[in-house]
Amino acid sequence: MTKNTLHYPTRELLWLSDIHLDMVDEDTKSDFLEKLRGVRCDALLITGDISNAKQLVGHLNDISAACGERPVFFTLGNHDYFFGSMCEVEKSVVELCDRTPNLIPLGQGEVIQLSPDTALVGHRGWYDGRAGDGERTEVVSPDQRWINDFKHLNKRRFFKRMRELGEESANYFRKVLPSALGRYRNVLVATHVPPCYQALKYNGEHCRWERQPFYANCSAGEVLIGLSRVYPRSKVTVYAGHSHSAIRVGISSRLDVQVAGARTGRPELQEVVSIH
Ligand SMILES: [Fe+2]
Ligand SMILES: [Fe+2]
Repeated sequence: MTKNTLHYPTRELLWLSDIHLDMVDEDTKSDFLEKLRGVRCDALLITGDISNAKQLVGHLNDISAACGERPVFFTLGNHDYFFGSMCEVEKSVVELCDRTPNLIPLGQGEVIQLSPDTALVGHRGWYDGRAGDGERTEVVSPDQRWINDFKHLNKRRFFKRMRELGEESANYFRKVLPSALGRYRNVLVATHVPPCYQALKYNGEHCRWERQPFYANCSAGEVLIGLSRVYPRSKVTVYAGHSHSAIRVGISSRLDVQVAGARTGRPELQEVVSIH
């Protein structure tokens, strides 16, 4: 993994999450892209669930075109693999980004300097099955049905794979975040799955224990909490999606977690973040 600092001077960062463009009609998509074209911002941040495996490249191309020269930093979400496999999707995204200069996939070891005081680090992340009822849950994730990698797995092996995917993102943050926390007062962390159960709601309500295994990445959360203690001069703000229920939680005075709200079929611009 190469660690490098990329410089993208940004004063206003538009955050989007869970826009699910595969679930909107053509008129809604055109209106949304028109909004993107007109919105005042210097860069975009998308925290996953952009589309599905079959339409992702097309929709990323649409977003790229609507943004002109503005950079689009993004992670994928679980839904982006629906109707395909993780390997195929990731290969097609790498090929697309290689030929599309303003599409910048997060999770390759990069620290993105947005200002002398603020940096962005990101990784897709995954729920690790540990929150709430854990493996005892009776709820079945739709991911197991619609993502090829998981279809053949029984419950025990599916949970083992979820745990590995959650830990992969935790290890990523353990490796990459210290170089940002050591240099910047504000570090934005972009990831699809909320990194702790405290930031969970489901359909606007408390997320029940039986659903929590599929909505939190406790492994990543432990690393973020640990590192924020080691670097007390830096403020970490996590931007996540996945649960579609907006919430902002102060985990400590140095760590905030913000989760995007979303409504299927109605893609929205989440928030313009001022970068200091
Ligand atoms: Fe979503
Ligand atoms: Fe999701």
